[in-house]
Amino acid sequence: MNLILFGPPGAGKGTQAQYLIDRLKVPQISTGDILRENVKKGTETGRRAKQVMDRGELVPDEILNQMIENRIAEADCAGGYILDGYPRNLNQAGFLASLLKKRKKALDAVISLKVDDEELVSRLSGRRLCRTCGKSYHVKFQPPSSAGKCDSCGGELYTRDDDREETVKNRLKVYHSQTSAVLEFYRKSGVLHEIDGSQEIDSVREKIFQVLGTGKAEK
Ligand code: AP5
Repeated sequence: MNLILFGPPGAGKGTQAQYLIDRLKVPQISTGDILRENVKKGTETGRRAKQVMDRGELVPDEILNQMIENRIAEADCAGGYILDGYPRNLNQAGFLASLLKKRKKALDAVISLKVDDEELVSRLSGRRLCRTCGKSYHVKFQPPSSAGKCDSCGGELYTRDDDREETVKNRLKVYHSQTSAVLEFYRKSGVLHEIDGSQEIDSVREKIFQVLGTGKAEK
């Protein structure tokens, strides 16, 4: 299954992708994670991306398009994938369409998570990530059992650089001015499912499984 998880920063794309990986047995492709990995390793891409990401703006299309073309050509994507954070503007959506056509593939679904800005700010300001395994938490909505410590591996929890208030505001501005247009692009395609992402995490997960026809989630 080739799937796009779409939505503004903090809508829950990464959170829901974790459930979908287990359910659909396909990899998640998070462009944000790939960029952050490049920043960590100090690659040329990471060097170019870091300042742009810290400002909450979009990294140039040529970098992202090449990244996606290379990633979906990898063996683990042969049975499908979950795109998280791509496409983010009309140019990227057009590039993805041409890439799929070239590979004689189609999108099975675009799941759009709708959440209002006030809730997004509260989610992003409370998000914490594990420095060791990357697992995501929220201080209020999805807290770890022991404050500041990852439940899975015991690693230290930290706040992402771009979850600072000023950057969050700019990320939301960029979403409304450049990314939301992608929704209209997919509305015409017949594969778009719009879901209320402001519900509790488990309810959103159930709804996504329902629209994908993959049955009820295991408790
Ligand atoms: P990226 O890493 O993709 O960030 P994003 O799209 O802004 O998304 P987030 O990861 O912040 O949010 P999410 O929707 O995954 O929410 P999450 O599940 O974590 O991109 C970062 C940067 O990289 C961009 O700004 C840009 O510079 C660059 N970039 C990336 N892709 C690009 C592209 N294609 N083109 C150009 N540049 C690109 O949830 C958030 C919090 O809320 C968590 O704490 C979670 O526990 C909590 N939560 C989740 N769901 C719920 C719920 N239902 N109820 C309560 N709390 C919830």
